[in-house]
Amino acid sequence: MGSFRGSVVALLCFNVLVGFVFGIGVNWGTQDTHALPPASVVKMLKDNGIQKVKLFDADYTILNALRKSGLQVMVGIPNEMLYGLANSVAAAENWVSKNISSHVSNGVDIRYAAVGNEPLLSTLNGSFLTTIFPALQNIQSALIKAGLSNQVKVTIPLNADVYDSGTSTKPSDGDFRADTKDLMVNIVKFLSDNGAPFTVNIYPFISLYNDPSFPAEYAFFDGYSSPIDDNGKIYQNVFDANHDTLVWSLQKNGFNNLSIIVGEIGWPTDGDRNANLQYAQRFNQGFMTRIKNNVGTPMRPGPVDAYLFSLVDEDAKSIQPGNFERHWGLFYFDGTPKYQLSLGTANALVGVSGVQYLAKKWCVLSPSANLDDPQVPLSVSYACERADCTSLGYETSCGNLDIKGNISYAFNSYYQVHDQLDTACKFPNLSAVTTSDPSTGDCKFRIMIEGDYSSSSVNGRAGALGKPLCSILFVLLFTFL
Ligand SMILES: *[C@@H]1O[C@H](CO)[C@@H](O)[C@H](O)[C@H]1NC(C)=O
Ligand SMILES: *[C@@H]1O[C@H](CO)[C@@H](O)[C@H](O)[C@H]1NC(C)=O
Ligand SMILES: *[C@@H]1O[C@H](CO)[C@@H](O)[C@H](O)[C@H]1NC(C)=O
Ligand SMILES: *[C@@H]1O[C@H](CO)[C@@H](O)[C@H](O)[C@H]1NC(C)=O
Ligand SMILES: *[C@@H]1O[C@H](CO)[C@@H](O)[C@H](O)[C@H]1NC(C)=O
Repeated sequence: MGSFRGSVVALLCFNVLVGFVFGIGVNWGTQDTHALPPASVVKMLKDNGIQKVKLFDADYTILNALRKSGLQVMVGIPNEMLYGLANSVAAAENWVSKNISSHVSNGVDIRYAAVGNEPLLSTLNGSFLTTIFPALQNIQSALIKAGLSNQVKVTIPLNADVYDSGTSTKPSDGDFRADTKDLMVNIVKFLSDNGAPFTVNIYPFISLYNDPSFPAEYAFFDGYSSPIDDNGKIYQNVFDANHDTLVWSLQKNGFNNLSIIVGEIGWPTDGDRNANLQYAQRFNQGFMTRIKNNVGTPMRPGPVDAYLFSLVDEDAKSIQPGNFERHWGLFYFDGTPKYQLSLGTANALVGVSGVQYLAKKWCVLSPSANLDDPQVPLSVSYACERADCTSLGYETSCGNLDIKGNISYAFNSYYQVHDQLDTACKFPNLSAVTTSDPSTGDCKFRIMIEGDYSSSSVNGRAGALGKPLCSILFVLLFTFL
Protein backbone atom coordinates (compact mmCIF):
# COMPACT_ATOMS: atom_id res chain seq x y z
CA MET A 1 0.00 0.00 0.00
CA GLY A 2 1.07 3.56 -0.57
CA SER A 3 2.24 5.94 2.09
CA PHE A 4 -0.19 7.32 4.58
CA ARG A 5 -0.42 10.64 2.77
CA GLY A 6 -1.13 8.72 -0.37
CA SER A 7 -3.97 6.97 1.42
CA VAL A 8 -5.45 10.24 2.58
CA VAL A 9 -5.36 11.65 -0.91
CA ALA A 10 -6.96 8.48 -2.14
CA LEU A 11 -9.60 8.70 0.56
CA LEU A 12 -10.42 12.22 -0.47
CA CYS A 13 -10.78 11.52 -4.14
CA PHE A 14 -11.22 7.79 -4.42
CA ASN A 15 -13.90 8.21 -7.05
CA VAL A 16 -11.24 8.91 -9.60
CA LEU A 17 -8.66 6.44 -8.40
CA VAL A 18 -9.88 3.23 -9.95
CA GLY A 19 -7.74 0.32 -8.91
CA PHE A 20 -6.58 1.60 -5.55
CA VAL A 21 -6.98 -1.18 -3.00
CA PHE A 22 -7.39 -0.54 0.71
CA GLY A 23 -6.93 -4.13 1.79
CA ILE A 24 -9.26 -5.83 4.20
CA GLY A 25 -9.30 -5.27 7.95
CA VAL A 26 -10.66 -7.32 10.84
CA ASN A 27 -12.04 -6.54 14.28
CA TRP A 28 -9.96 -8.23 16.97
CA GLY A 29 -12.11 -8.51 20.08
CA THR A 30 -10.93 -9.95 23.38
CA GLN A 31 -14.09 -10.92 25.26
CA ASP A 32 -13.09 -14.54 25.57
CA THR A 33 -12.29 -16.80 28.50
CA HIS A 34 -9.09 -18.08 26.84
CA ALA A 35 -7.10 -15.91 24.47
CA LEU A 36 -4.87 -17.18 21.68
CA PRO A 37 -1.28 -15.92 22.00
CA PRO A 38 -1.27 -12.46 20.32
CA ALA A 39 1.96 -13.17 18.42
CA SER A 40 0.41 -16.29 16.85
CA VAL A 41 -2.67 -14.31 15.88
CA VAL A 42 -0.53 -11.61 14.26
CA LYS A 43 1.26 -14.27 12.23
CA MET A 44 -2.09 -15.70 11.15
CA LEU A 45 -3.30 -12.23 10.10
CA LYS A 46 -0.25 -11.83 7.90
CA ASP A 47 -0.57 -15.37 6.52
CA ASN A 48 -4.07 -14.44 5.38
CA GLY A 49 -3.09 -11.15 3.77
CA ILE A 50 -5.15 -9.15 6.28
CA GLN A 51 -3.77 -5.62 6.35
CA LYS A 52 -5.59 -3.81 9.12
CA VAL A 53 -6.90 -4.54 12.61
CA LYS A 54 -9.41 -2.71 14.74
CA LEU A 55 -9.08 -3.08 18.51
CA PHE A 56 -11.77 -2.21 21.05
CA ASP A 57 -9.27 -0.96 23.57
CA ALA A 58 -5.57 -0.31 23.83
CA ASP A 59 -4.66 -3.85 24.89
CA TYR A 60 -0.96 -3.63 25.70
CA THR A 61 0.01 -7.21 24.83
CA ILE A 62 -1.82 -7.08 21.51
CA LEU A 63 -0.31 -3.72 20.54
CA ASN A 64 3.08 -5.05 21.51
CA ALA A 65 2.57 -8.07 19.24
CA LEU A 66 1.68 -5.70 16.38
CA ARG A 67 5.06 -3.93 16.50
CA LYS A 68 6.73 -3.85 13.11
CA SER A 69 4.11 -6.27 11.78
CA GLY A 70 3.22 -4.11 8.79
CA LEU A 71 -0.41 -4.16 9.95
CA GLN A 72 -2.29 -0.87 10.26
CA VAL A 73 -4.10 -0.43 13.54
CA MET A 74 -7.24 1.33 14.77
CA VAL A 75 -7.13 1.62 18.57
CA GLY A 76 -10.48 1.92 20.34
CA ILE A 77 -11.50 3.77 23.47
CA PRO A 78 -14.28 2.02 25.46
CA ASN A 79 -17.43 4.07 26.12
CA GLU A 80 -16.80 3.81 29.85
CA MET A 81 -13.77 6.07 29.44
CA LEU A 82 -15.60 8.85 27.59
CA TYR A 83 -16.73 10.73 30.69
CA GLY A 84 -13.18 11.04 32.01
CA LEU A 85 -11.75 12.00 28.63
CA ALA A 86 -14.50 14.56 27.99
CA ASN A 87 -13.90 16.28 31.30
CA SER A 88 -10.14 16.34 31.43
CA VAL A 89 -7.67 17.46 28.81
CA ALA A 90 -4.95 15.89 30.97
CA ALA A 91 -6.73 12.51 30.87
CA ALA A 92 -6.90 12.69 27.08
CA GLU A 93 -3.21 13.61 26.91
CA ASN A 94 -2.36 10.69 29.18
CA TRP A 95 -4.41 8.35 27.08
CA VAL A 96 -2.68 9.46 23.89
CA SER A 97 0.74 9.34 25.52
CA LYS A 98 0.31 5.87 27.03
CA ASN A 99 -1.87 4.22 24.43
CA ILE A 100 -0.82 5.87 21.16
CA SER A 101 2.53 7.70 21.31
CA SER A 102 4.43 5.00 23.19
CA HIS A 103 3.27 2.31 20.76
CA VAL A 104 3.92 4.46 17.70
CA SER A 105 7.49 5.03 18.88
CA ASN A 106 7.79 1.27 19.33
CA GLY A 107 6.89 0.64 15.71
CA VAL A 108 3.13 0.05 15.86
CA ASP A 109 1.51 1.51 12.74
CA ILE A 110 -1.47 3.21 14.41
CA ARG A 111 -3.69 5.03 11.90
CA TYR A 112 -6.85 5.74 13.87
CA ALA A 113 -8.01 6.40 17.39
CA ALA A 114 -11.63 5.25 17.64
CA VAL A 115 -13.34 7.31 20.32
CA GLY A 116 -16.13 5.25 21.93
CA ASN A 117 -17.95 2.33 20.38
CA GLU A 118 -21.44 2.90 18.99
CA PRO A 119 -21.94 5.56 21.69
CA LEU A 120 -25.16 6.91 20.18
CA LEU A 121 -27.08 3.64 19.91
CA SER A 122 -30.64 4.37 20.86
CA THR A 123 -30.59 1.47 23.35
CA LEU A 124 -27.91 3.34 25.31
CA ASN A 125 -30.59 5.97 26.09
CA GLY A 126 -28.34 8.92 25.37
CA SER A 127 -25.80 7.88 28.02
CA PHE A 128 -22.94 9.38 26.00
CA LEU A 129 -24.71 12.29 24.32
CA THR A 130 -22.89 14.94 26.29
CA THR A 131 -19.48 13.25 26.52
CA ILE A 132 -18.79 11.86 23.05
CA PHE A 133 -18.08 15.14 21.27
CA PRO A 134 -15.86 16.75 23.96
CA ALA A 135 -13.99 13.43 24.30
CA LEU A 136 -13.41 13.44 20.53
CA GLN A 137 -12.17 17.04 20.67
CA ASN A 138 -9.86 16.35 23.61
CA ILE A 139 -8.32 13.30 21.95
CA GLN A 140 -7.78 15.28 18.74
CA SER A 141 -6.11 18.12 20.69
CA ALA A 142 -3.93 15.60 22.48
CA LEU A 143 -2.91 14.04 19.16
CA ILE A 144 -2.00 17.49 17.82
CA LYS A 145 0.01 18.22 20.96
CA ALA A 146 1.80 14.87 20.59
CA GLY A 147 2.66 15.75 16.99
CA LEU A 148 0.68 12.76 15.69
CA SER A 149 -2.42 14.32 14.17
CA ASN A 150 -1.30 13.81 10.58
CA GLN A 151 -0.56 10.17 11.15
CA VAL A 152 -3.33 9.16 13.56
CA LYS A 153 -6.86 10.28 12.70
CA VAL A 154 -9.74 10.33 15.16
CA THR A 155 -13.05 8.69 14.34
CA ILE A 156 -16.14 7.35 16.14
CA PRO A 157 -17.45 3.90 15.20
CA LEU A 158 -21.17 4.62 14.94
CA ASN A 159 -24.12 2.32 14.72
CA ALA A 160 -26.20 2.61 11.56
CA ASP A 161 -29.17 3.83 13.59
CA VAL A 162 -27.74 7.36 13.80
CA TYR A 163 -29.33 7.88 10.38
CA ASP A 164 -32.43 6.61 8.61
CA SER A 165 -34.66 7.36 5.68
CA GLY A 166 -37.82 7.86 7.71
CA THR A 167 -40.70 5.87 6.30
CA SER A 168 -39.10 5.72 2.86
CA THR A 169 -37.07 2.89 1.35
CA LYS A 170 -34.88 5.23 -0.63
CA PRO A 171 -31.33 6.07 0.41
CA SER A 172 -31.86 9.55 -1.02
CA ASP A 173 -34.38 10.20 1.78
CA GLY A 174 -31.65 9.57 4.37
CA ASP A 175 -30.76 11.99 7.13
CA PHE A 176 -29.43 11.83 10.69
CA ARG A 177 -31.84 10.61 13.35
CA ALA A 178 -33.78 13.60 14.67
CA ASP A 179 -32.71 13.27 18.32
CA THR A 180 -28.99 13.23 17.44
CA LYS A 181 -29.02 15.39 14.33
CA ASP A 182 -27.48 18.55 15.80
CA LEU A 183 -24.80 16.55 17.56
CA MET A 184 -24.09 14.48 14.45
CA VAL A 185 -23.68 17.57 12.31
CA ASN A 186 -21.17 18.96 14.83
CA ILE A 187 -19.29 15.67 14.94
CA VAL A 188 -19.24 15.33 11.16
CA LYS A 189 -18.03 18.91 10.73
CA PHE A 190 -15.24 18.24 13.22
CA LEU A 191 -14.22 15.04 11.42
CA SER A 192 -14.30 16.84 8.09
CA ASP A 193 -12.26 19.79 9.39
CA ASN A 194 -9.61 17.37 10.67
CA GLY A 195 -9.43 15.13 7.61
CA ALA A 196 -10.90 12.27 9.63
CA PRO A 197 -13.29 9.56 8.40
CA PHE A 198 -16.84 8.60 9.38
CA THR A 199 -16.94 5.02 10.69
CA VAL A 200 -20.17 3.03 10.52
CA ASN A 201 -21.11 -0.55 11.49
CA ILE A 202 -23.57 -2.22 9.11
CA TYR A 203 -25.37 -5.52 9.90
CA PRO A 204 -27.62 -7.14 7.29
CA PHE A 205 -27.80 -10.27 9.53
CA ILE A 206 -29.65 -8.27 12.16
CA SER A 207 -32.27 -7.26 9.61
CA LEU A 208 -33.03 -10.90 9.06
CA TYR A 209 -32.82 -11.73 12.76
CA ASN A 210 -35.28 -9.02 13.78
CA ASP A 211 -37.77 -9.43 10.99
CA PRO A 212 -38.77 -12.91 9.81
CA SER A 213 -40.36 -11.34 6.71
CA PHE A 214 -37.14 -9.62 5.66
CA PRO A 215 -36.17 -11.17 2.31
CA ALA A 216 -33.01 -13.20 2.86
CA GLU A 217 -31.92 -12.49 -0.72
CA TYR A 218 -31.73 -8.77 0.02
CA ALA A 219 -29.26 -9.43 2.86
CA PHE A 220 -26.76 -11.08 0.47
CA PHE A 221 -24.91 -9.92 -2.63
CA ASP A 222 -26.28 -12.28 -5.25
CA GLY A 223 -29.01 -10.07 -6.65
CA TYR A 224 -32.58 -9.43 -5.53
CA SER A 225 -35.76 -9.79 -7.53
CA SER A 226 -37.36 -6.54 -6.25
CA PRO A 227 -34.51 -4.04 -6.23
CA ILE A 228 -35.09 -0.48 -5.06
CA ASP A 229 -34.86 2.11 -7.80
CA ASP A 230 -33.72 5.37 -6.23
CA ASN A 231 -33.84 7.91 -9.05
CA GLY A 232 -32.01 5.53 -11.34
CA LYS A 233 -29.63 4.12 -8.75
CA ILE A 234 -30.49 0.45 -8.28
CA TYR A 235 -30.24 -1.24 -4.88
CA GLN A 236 -29.96 -5.02 -4.88
CA ASN A 237 -28.79 -5.49 -1.31
CA VAL A 238 -29.35 -3.85 2.05
CA PHE A 239 -25.65 -3.11 2.58
CA ASP A 240 -25.58 -0.74 -0.40
CA ALA A 241 -28.88 0.83 0.60
CA ASN A 242 -27.75 1.37 4.17
CA HIS A 243 -24.32 2.70 3.20
CA ASP A 244 -25.82 5.13 0.71
CA THR A 245 -28.42 6.31 3.21
CA LEU A 246 -25.37 7.51 5.13
CA VAL A 247 -23.85 9.08 2.01
CA TRP A 248 -27.09 11.01 1.46
CA SER A 249 -27.29 11.99 5.14
CA LEU A 250 -23.79 13.43 4.90
CA GLN A 251 -24.49 15.11 1.58
CA LYS A 252 -27.71 16.70 2.81
CA ASN A 253 -25.78 18.35 5.62
CA GLY A 254 -23.02 19.64 3.36
CA PHE A 255 -20.41 16.88 3.59
CA ASN A 256 -20.30 15.31 0.15
CA ASN A 257 -16.75 14.16 0.36
CA LEU A 258 -16.30 12.78 3.86
CA SER A 259 -14.61 9.40 3.64
CA ILE A 260 -16.45 6.43 5.12
CA ILE A 261 -14.99 3.40 6.88
CA VAL A 262 -17.17 0.34 7.38
CA GLY A 263 -16.07 -0.41 10.94
CA GLU A 264 -17.88 -3.72 11.36
CA ILE A 265 -19.49 -6.05 8.87
CA GLY A 266 -19.98 -9.80 9.05
CA TRP A 267 -22.24 -12.76 9.67
CA PRO A 268 -22.37 -15.15 12.66
CA THR A 269 -22.29 -18.93 12.32
CA ASP A 270 -24.28 -20.27 15.26
CA GLY A 271 -26.86 -19.40 17.89
CA ASP A 272 -29.72 -18.60 15.50
CA ARG A 273 -31.51 -20.24 12.58
CA ASN A 274 -29.97 -17.72 10.15
CA ALA A 275 -26.54 -17.93 11.75
CA ASN A 276 -24.81 -20.83 10.04
CA LEU A 277 -21.69 -21.65 8.06
CA GLN A 278 -23.42 -21.51 4.67
CA TYR A 279 -24.93 -18.06 5.17
CA ALA A 280 -21.77 -16.66 6.75
CA GLN A 281 -19.65 -17.97 3.89
CA ARG A 282 -22.09 -16.62 1.33
CA PHE A 283 -22.26 -13.18 2.94
CA ASN A 284 -18.58 -12.72 3.67
CA GLN A 285 -17.44 -14.10 0.32
CA GLY A 286 -20.00 -11.93 -1.47
CA PHE A 287 -18.72 -8.91 0.41
CA MET A 288 -15.05 -9.80 -0.16
CA THR A 289 -15.55 -10.31 -3.87
CA ARG A 290 -16.94 -6.78 -4.09
CA ILE A 291 -14.05 -5.47 -2.01
CA LYS A 292 -11.51 -7.17 -4.28
CA ASN A 293 -13.19 -5.79 -7.38
CA ASN A 294 -13.51 -2.27 -5.92
CA VAL A 295 -17.20 -2.31 -6.70
CA GLY A 296 -18.32 0.16 -4.04
CA THR A 297 -21.92 1.29 -3.81
CA PRO A 298 -24.15 3.15 -6.30
CA MET A 299 -23.37 6.48 -4.57
CA ARG A 300 -19.71 5.70 -3.92
CA PRO A 301 -18.33 3.43 -6.62
CA GLY A 302 -14.74 2.39 -6.00
CA PRO A 303 -12.79 0.92 -3.11
CA VAL A 304 -14.52 0.34 0.23
CA ASP A 305 -12.47 0.56 3.41
CA ALA A 306 -13.85 -2.17 5.70
CA TYR A 307 -13.14 -4.25 8.80
CA LEU A 308 -14.76 -7.67 8.98
CA PHE A 309 -16.51 -8.58 12.20
CA SER A 310 -14.93 -10.52 13.57
CA LEU A 311 -11.71 -12.42 13.84
CA VAL A 312 -12.20 -15.16 16.45
CA ASP A 313 -15.32 -16.26 18.35
CA GLU A 314 -15.53 -14.69 21.80
CA ASP A 315 -17.14 -17.00 24.37
CA ALA A 316 -17.60 -14.38 27.07
CA LYS A 317 -19.51 -11.72 25.13
CA SER A 318 -22.87 -10.58 26.42
CA ILE A 319 -25.66 -12.58 24.80
CA GLN A 320 -28.19 -9.87 25.46
CA PRO A 321 -28.40 -9.20 21.68
CA GLY A 322 -28.89 -12.94 21.04
CA ASN A 323 -27.03 -16.27 21.24
CA PHE A 324 -25.37 -15.54 17.89
CA GLU A 325 -23.26 -12.84 19.58
CA ARG A 326 -20.53 -15.35 20.51
CA HIS A 327 -20.21 -16.69 16.95
CA TRP A 328 -19.16 -13.81 14.70
CA GLY A 329 -15.62 -15.09 14.11
CA LEU A 330 -14.11 -16.05 10.78
CA PHE A 331 -12.23 -18.46 13.06
CA TYR A 332 -13.34 -20.60 15.98
CA PHE A 333 -12.08 -19.79 19.49
CA ASP A 334 -8.99 -21.94 18.82
CA GLY A 335 -8.03 -20.14 15.62
CA THR A 336 -9.23 -22.80 13.17
CA PRO A 337 -11.01 -21.42 10.08
CA LYS A 338 -14.74 -22.05 9.93
CA TYR A 339 -15.22 -22.13 6.16
CA GLN A 340 -13.54 -21.42 2.84
CA LEU A 341 -13.08 -17.72 2.32
CA SER A 342 -10.91 -15.90 -0.15
CA LEU A 343 -9.74 -12.63 1.33
CA GLY A 344 -7.73 -11.75 -1.73
CA THR A 345 -4.55 -13.74 -1.73
CA ALA A 346 -5.26 -17.42 -1.07
CA ASN A 347 -8.56 -19.21 -1.58
CA ALA A 348 -8.67 -20.67 1.90
CA LEU A 349 -8.13 -19.15 5.30
CA VAL A 350 -4.99 -20.14 7.17
CA GLY A 351 -5.50 -20.98 10.85
CA VAL A 352 -3.45 -20.06 13.90
CA SER A 353 -0.51 -22.42 14.20
CA GLY A 354 1.02 -23.98 17.29
CA VAL A 355 -2.15 -23.85 19.40
CA GLN A 356 -1.87 -25.82 22.65
CA TYR A 357 -4.96 -27.70 23.81
CA LEU A 358 -5.90 -29.16 27.17
CA ALA A 359 -6.12 -32.95 27.52
CA LYS A 360 -8.51 -34.97 25.34
CA LYS A 361 -11.25 -35.37 27.92
CA TRP A 362 -14.77 -34.16 28.41
CA CYS A 363 -17.24 -33.80 31.25
CA VAL A 364 -20.61 -35.42 30.48
CA LEU A 365 -23.80 -36.62 32.12
CA SER A 366 -22.89 -39.74 34.06
CA PRO A 367 -24.46 -42.95 32.70
CA SER A 368 -25.79 -43.68 36.17
CA ALA A 369 -27.39 -40.26 36.62
CA ASN A 370 -31.08 -40.07 37.40
CA LEU A 371 -32.72 -37.56 35.06
CA ASP A 372 -35.48 -36.93 37.61
CA ASP A 373 -32.93 -35.66 40.10
CA PRO A 374 -34.06 -32.12 40.96
CA GLN A 375 -30.41 -31.06 40.74
CA VAL A 376 -30.44 -31.53 36.94
CA PRO A 377 -32.04 -28.25 35.86
CA LEU A 378 -30.20 -26.34 38.56
CA SER A 379 -26.84 -27.79 37.52
CA VAL A 380 -27.47 -27.10 33.84
CA SER A 381 -28.39 -23.48 34.39
CA TYR A 382 -25.46 -23.04 36.78
CA ALA A 383 -23.10 -24.39 34.10
CA CYS A 384 -24.63 -22.42 31.22
CA GLU A 385 -24.57 -19.13 33.10
CA ARG A 386 -20.87 -19.54 33.77
CA ALA A 387 -19.83 -21.05 30.45
CA ASP A 388 -21.35 -21.06 26.97
CA CYS A 389 -24.49 -22.91 25.86
CA THR A 390 -25.22 -20.73 22.83
CA SER A 391 -24.84 -23.67 20.45
CA LEU A 392 -27.90 -25.35 22.02
CA GLY A 393 -31.38 -24.48 20.82
CA TYR A 394 -33.58 -24.40 17.76
CA GLU A 395 -31.64 -24.76 14.50
CA THR A 396 -28.21 -24.25 16.01
CA SER A 397 -25.20 -26.55 15.62
CA CYS A 398 -26.22 -28.67 18.64
CA GLY A 399 -29.95 -28.17 18.24
CA ASN A 400 -30.54 -31.85 17.57
CA LEU A 401 -29.15 -33.15 20.85
CA ASP A 402 -31.55 -35.06 23.10
CA ILE A 403 -32.01 -34.06 26.70
CA LYS A 404 -29.00 -36.10 27.83
CA GLY A 405 -26.87 -34.55 25.14
CA ASN A 406 -27.99 -31.10 26.23
CA ILE A 407 -26.99 -31.76 29.82
CA SER A 408 -23.63 -33.16 28.77
CA TYR A 409 -22.99 -30.17 26.53
CA ALA A 410 -23.62 -27.78 29.41
CA PHE A 411 -21.41 -29.73 31.82
CA ASN A 412 -18.60 -29.95 29.30
CA SER A 413 -18.70 -26.28 28.47
CA TYR A 414 -18.36 -25.44 32.16
CA TYR A 415 -15.55 -27.97 32.58
CA GLN A 416 -13.55 -26.67 29.59
CA VAL A 417 -14.01 -23.00 30.44
CA HIS A 418 -12.69 -23.88 33.90
CA ASP A 419 -9.55 -25.49 32.52
CA GLN A 420 -10.73 -29.08 33.08
CA LEU A 421 -10.32 -28.73 36.83
CA ASP A 422 -11.50 -31.84 38.70
CA THR A 423 -13.77 -29.64 40.76
CA ALA A 424 -15.44 -28.38 37.57
CA CYS A 425 -16.88 -31.84 36.83
CA LYS A 426 -18.45 -32.49 40.23
CA PHE A 427 -22.13 -31.88 39.58
CA PRO A 428 -23.49 -33.99 42.47
CA ASN A 429 -24.28 -37.54 41.32
CA LEU A 430 -24.71 -36.27 37.77
CA SER A 431 -21.40 -35.81 36.00
CA ALA A 432 -18.41 -37.90 34.96
CA VAL A 433 -15.22 -37.34 32.98
CA THR A 434 -14.86 -39.32 29.76
CA THR A 435 -12.10 -39.72 27.19
CA SER A 436 -14.45 -40.58 24.35
CA ASP A 437 -15.51 -37.60 22.25
CA PRO A 438 -19.25 -36.92 22.64
CA SER A 439 -19.33 -34.74 19.47
CA THR A 440 -21.87 -35.74 16.82
CA GLY A 441 -22.00 -34.34 13.29
CA ASP A 442 -21.84 -30.55 13.36
CA CYS A 443 -22.22 -30.48 17.13
CA LYS A 444 -18.76 -30.13 18.61
CA PHE A 445 -17.97 -30.72 22.27
CA ARG A 446 -14.93 -28.56 22.44
CA ILE A 447 -11.65 -28.99 24.27
CA MET A 448 -10.34 -25.73 25.63
CA ILE A 449 -7.05 -24.18 24.59
CA GLU A 450 -4.34 -23.44 27.08
CA GLY A 451 -4.23 -19.91 28.35
CA ASP A 452 -5.38 -17.89 31.30
CA TYR A 453 -8.92 -18.24 32.40
CA SER A 454 -9.61 -14.57 32.22
CA SER A 455 -13.34 -13.92 32.30
CA SER A 456 -12.84 -11.70 35.33
CA SER A 457 -10.82 -9.33 33.19
CA VAL A 458 -13.16 -9.49 30.24
CA ASN A 459 -13.85 -6.03 28.91
CA GLY A 460 -17.36 -4.74 28.60
CA ARG A 461 -18.41 -3.55 25.20
CA ALA A 462 -21.56 -1.53 25.23
CA GLY A 463 -21.93 -1.57 21.48
CA ALA A 464 -22.73 -5.23 21.46
CA LEU A 465 -25.87 -4.56 23.45
CA GLY A 466 -27.54 -2.58 20.78
CA LYS A 467 -26.94 -4.37 17.51
CA PRO A 468 -30.61 -5.26 17.12
CA LEU A 469 -31.39 -1.57 17.02
CA CYS A 470 -28.97 -1.03 14.17
CA SER A 471 -31.43 -2.86 12.05
CA ILE A 472 -34.27 -0.44 12.44
CA LEU A 473 -33.15 1.18 9.27
CA PHE A 474 -32.96 -2.10 7.42
CA VAL A 475 -36.42 -3.03 8.59
CA LEU A 476 -37.77 0.33 7.54
CA LEU A 477 -36.06 0.08 4.22
CA PHE A 478 -37.75 -3.20 3.63
CA THR A 479 -41.14 -2.70 5.21
CA PHE A 480 -42.12 -0.13 2.65
CA LEU A 481 -40.92 -1.95 -0.40
C1 LIG B 1 -4.83 2.96 28.10
O1 LIG B 1 -5.78 2.03 27.63
C2 LIG B 1 -6.15 1.05 28.58
C3 LIG B 1 -7.04 0.05 27.88
O2 LIG B 1 -8.18 0.65 27.33
C4 LIG B 1 -6.80 1.73 29.77
O3 LIG B 1 -7.16 0.76 30.74
C5 LIG B 1 -5.86 2.74 30.36
O4 LIG B 1 -6.51 3.45 31.39
C6 LIG B 1 -5.38 3.71 29.30
N1 LIG B 1 -4.34 4.56 29.86
C7 LIG B 1 -4.53 5.87 30.07
C8 LIG B 1 -3.39 6.60 30.69
O5 LIG B 1 -5.58 6.44 29.79
C1 LIG C 1 -32.42 2.18 28.58
O1 LIG C 1 -33.78 2.32 29.02
C2 LIG C 1 -34.49 1.10 29.02
C3 LIG C 1 -35.94 1.41 29.35
O2 LIG C 1 -36.03 2.33 30.40
C4 LIG C 1 -33.83 0.14 30.03
O3 LIG C 1 -34.53 -1.07 30.04
C5 LIG C 1 -32.39 -0.07 29.62
O4 LIG C 1 -31.74 -0.88 30.58
C6 LIG C 1 -31.65 1.24 29.49
N1 LIG C 1 -30.33 0.97 28.95
C7 LIG C 1 -29.23 1.54 29.41
C8 LIG C 1 -27.95 1.12 28.77
O5 LIG C 1 -29.24 2.35 30.32
C1 LIG D 1 -15.80 17.31 -3.29
O1 LIG D 1 -14.75 16.97 -4.15
C2 LIG D 1 -14.91 17.48 -5.47
C3 LIG D 1 -13.82 16.90 -6.35
O2 LIG D 1 -12.61 16.83 -5.65
C4 LIG D 1 -14.89 18.99 -5.40
O3 LIG D 1 -15.06 19.54 -6.70
C5 LIG D 1 -16.00 19.49 -4.49
O4 LIG D 1 -15.92 20.87 -4.32
C6 LIG D 1 -15.91 18.81 -3.13
N1 LIG D 1 -17.10 19.16 -2.39
C7 LIG D 1 -17.05 19.55 -1.13
C8 LIG D 1 -18.37 19.80 -0.48
O5 LIG D 1 -16.01 19.64 -0.51
C1 LIG E 1 -31.84 -28.61 24.75
O1 LIG E 1 -31.56 -27.29 25.23
C2 LIG E 1 -32.09 -26.28 24.40
C3 LIG E 1 -31.57 -24.96 24.92
O2 LIG E 1 -31.65 -24.86 26.29
C4 LIG E 1 -33.60 -26.37 24.37
O3 LIG E 1 -34.12 -25.37 23.52
C5 LIG E 1 -33.98 -27.73 23.84
O4 LIG E 1 -35.37 -27.88 23.89
C6 LIG E 1 -33.32 -28.83 24.67
N1 LIG E 1 -33.58 -30.11 24.03
C7 LIG E 1 -34.13 -31.11 24.70
C8 LIG E 1 -34.37 -32.37 23.94
O5 LIG E 1 -34.42 -31.01 25.88
C1 LIG F 1 -26.16 -39.06 45.51
O1 LIG F 1 -27.00 -40.20 45.45
C2 LIG F 1 -27.07 -40.92 46.66
C3 LIG F 1 -27.90 -42.18 46.49
O2 LIG F 1 -28.29 -42.36 45.16
C4 LIG F 1 -27.67 -40.04 47.73
O3 LIG F 1 -27.68 -40.72 48.96
C5 LIG F 1 -26.86 -38.81 47.90
O4 LIG F 1 -27.47 -37.90 48.79
C6 LIG F 1 -26.69 -38.10 46.57
N1 LIG F 1 -25.76 -37.00 46.74
C7 LIG F 1 -26.05 -35.76 46.38
C8 LIG F 1 -24.98 -34.73 46.67
O5 LIG F 1 -27.12 -35.46 45.90
